[in-house]
Amino acid sequence: MTFIRCRELTKTYRKGDVLITPLERLDLDVARGEFLALMGPSGSGKTTLLNLIAGIDRPTDGSLHIGGVDIAALSRGRLADWRAANVGYVFQLYHLVPVLTAYENVELPLLLHAMPRRERHRRVAAALDLAGIPDRHDHYPRQLSGGQEQRVAIARALVTDPALIVADEPTGDLDRDSAALILGLLTRLSSELGKTLVMVTHDPGSTRFASRTLHLEKGRLVESGIAETPRS
Ligand SMILES: Nc1ncnc2c1ncn2[C@@H]1O[C@H](COP(=O)(O)OP(=O)(O)OP(=O)(O)O)[C@@H](O)[C@H]1O
Ligand SMILES: [Mg+2]
Repeated sequence: MTFIRCRELTKTYRKGDVLITPLERLDLDVARGEFLALMGPSGSGKTTLLNLIAGIDRPTDGSLHIGGVDIAALSRGRLADWRAANVGYVFQLYHLVPVLTAYENVELPLLLHAMPRRERHRRVAAALDLAGIPDRHDHYPRQLSGGQEQRVAIARALVTDPALIVADEPTGDLDRDSAALILGLLTRLSSELGKTLVMVTHDPGSTRFASRTLHLEKGRLVESGIAETPRS
């Protein structure tokens, strides 16, 4: 079943008199539970596409449906609500809050949802467990290795149980072994939990973890983003 459906998706920025079009009429289908890797040179529009899919930015033109919701048509407020309920974002440089512990960082997205404290605790502990950080709850980010910080960041992305996880070069700052552990974890999120994953990467070696790899070039996909036969 198609989960993400982009048609003629276009993003244009205006800088003074100059128009920049990082994404141009892009067609893409991503099935539910798929782990899609996106590659492409710097400036080819990868982060732009990820931000549109995550509802962080809005398209200039074209359509974007996720889980049957036309997210391009949502108001800013509704888009923020949709994002909080449906999307987890993982960044290259983790973006943990330095003055909060691992536990508190993961708890943060849940504070946007009305939820009893006990339930919050259960979810934070489960997410940290799943991410492989069962025994570092009280550590601050500076007391963690890069690989551990990224695990905490993945726990934070997971804790609201979103259907969609987007990751922008999640292993870009890690050594090979830590990267393999993170990629293994992301793979499990799609294969065991049925999450749909879209990951930007510069490392061809990491695409073997993905179920499909597409290449962006100057705002367009090099190969078709739509399956010839409908995905089930
Ligand atoms: N807010 C913005 N305003 C104006 N131009 C922007 C904005 N965001 C991105 N761009 C431009 O859009 C193009 C694509 O940027 P994007 O960040 O999507 O590239 P990328 O493929 O993620 O590159 P990298 O691999 O370096 O992260 C670039 O030319 C960039 O300068
Ligand atoms: Mg980028």
